Amino acid sequence: MQHVVCSYSRCLSLIRSFLTIAGWINEHGPLITVRSGLGKVVIIGRYKAAMDIMENQGGTLADRPRMIAAGELFNGGLSIAYTPFGDRFRRMRRALHTHFQPKAAEAYQPLQASNVKNLIFDILDDPYSFQNHVTSYAATVITKVTYGSTAPTSATDPQVIEMRQLRKIIDGALRPDAFYLVDSIPWLKHIPWYGRELKRGFKRSKRLNIGQLNRVKEQMESDVDIGPSFVKYMLENGDHHGLTEDETAFLGGSLFRAGSNTTTSVICTVLMAAACFPDEQVKVQAELDAVIGRHRAPTFADQQSLTRLHAFISEAVRWRPVAPNGFPHRTTKDVIWENHCIPAGTTVFGNHWAICRDPDVFPEPEAFKPQRWIDNQGLLRDDLTNFLYGFGRRVCPGQHVANRTVFISAVLILWAFQLTLNPTQPLDDTGFMNSEKAHRPLTYRPCTIEFKARIPETSSGG
Ligand code: HEM
Repeated sequence: MQHVVCSYSRCLSLIRSFLTIAGWINEHGPLITVRSGLGKVVIIGRYKAAMDIMENQGGTLADRPRMIAAGELFNGGLSIAYTPFGDRFRRMRRALHTHFQPKAAEAYQPLQASNVKNLIFDILDDPYSFQNHVTSYAATVITKVTYGSTAPTSATDPQVIEMRQLRKIIDGALRPDAFYLVDSIPWLKHIPWYGRELKRGFKRSKRLNIGQLNRVKEQMESDVDIGPSFVKYMLENGDHHGLTEDETAFLGGSLFRAGSNTTTSVICTVLMAAACFPDEQVKVQAELDAVIGRHRAPTFADQQSLTRLHAFISEAVRWRPVAPNGFPHRTTKDVIWENHCIPAGTTVFGNHWAICRDPDVFPEPEAFKPQRWIDNQGLLRDDLTNFLYGFGRRVCPGQHVANRTVFISAVLILWAFQLTLNPTQPLDDTGFMNSEKAHRPLTYRPCTIEFKARIPETSSGG
């Protein structure tokens, strides 16, 4: 395995760090070791290596490296995303898995479909702010999936303001250039004056998460109809999953953080790809016209018949992956792959950007070709993945809900509008990727899209 003499943390603090890392992979091979602080990390940058190591030896890579600032000080060890492999991880994953498996995720389709109408009306009213409308839609869906249909979602609601403020603190703690001495010198964690902002953030998160849980409990006790939700399910089945009240409250809280920005980025990436590649947009719309027509609105029932649309979405997130540098995993045993050994205790990243550009699997990787996801029979290929949802036992547990949120918004927007780029405004086609958002102000606009109605107003269905 090649060792690249460069600091990974310094590299991550650069704009478009994924290009630098992809350059190392191109030069040195599918598996590289890079210095990070006082230790080393391994980066996997090719498809076969990712499949063999991250997917097929998943159990050995299910751990996370210790992240004291973000995981312990800010989250009190209660956030699933930072939880090490072990008993708490297993209990939390089992609860998520049971509630968000494909059949169960279907229960949220009515909620996703009714809220997407507001997204369409908001785009009609104010197309320039499409990015804000997508953000509100994704945040509303995940909040209601977590806490039920009556959960407050308005931007002026105190709980929503608190959720956003706390997310800002943790986003700051996780900025690629953020450095917490405690992550190198763990005992600092016990010094009362150290990391005050993070420790205060934990107290605020706990108050918020427990408050949200209690609201659902009260509504259930007074028989208010709140529809299905993750927290309701946990309150009904908590004993079965063996989670404490704090664990349940934080598990609910972590869904907003994990599921809002990611979903927003994917939807915006799909819309940007449609505007950047008009010929491919036309092909999707020809399929929509053939399958749905223009006299009724698309629904979830059309999902299985829209191969071209699914291929387009898969290609959009291959072209601009949401998390290009991936998330850290940690080996719990030595991992042998071909003639390489990754020792136990190593932090390993699957680099989505480089893997999605593996020329053996994605010929002409820079070209935007939805066709590569379709086989000779015109069916979606089931032997190919873009790893959008990560790897192995840490794969995103919300993927079946997320896929449906992305599908229903993409199908309605592409059915209702023709999207074009405004050529007088700047285009930053990497600007929706999470690694890049960290370098730009919150009000940043990667592109300006014009939305022209395709459907006569009287035909907009239900
Ligand atoms: C399109 C939107 C989404 C994308 C692209 C996405 C992607 C990811 C990725 C890449 C990971 C890390 C996997 C790894 O470590 O290898 C992850 C983890 C996670 N996601 Fe998602 N996600 C999305 C939506 C959601 C939603 C809607 C939910 C909740 C319902 C959710 C809940 C989680 C949780 C709890 C984790 C942490 C899992 C763990 O550490 O064991 N995500 N997601």
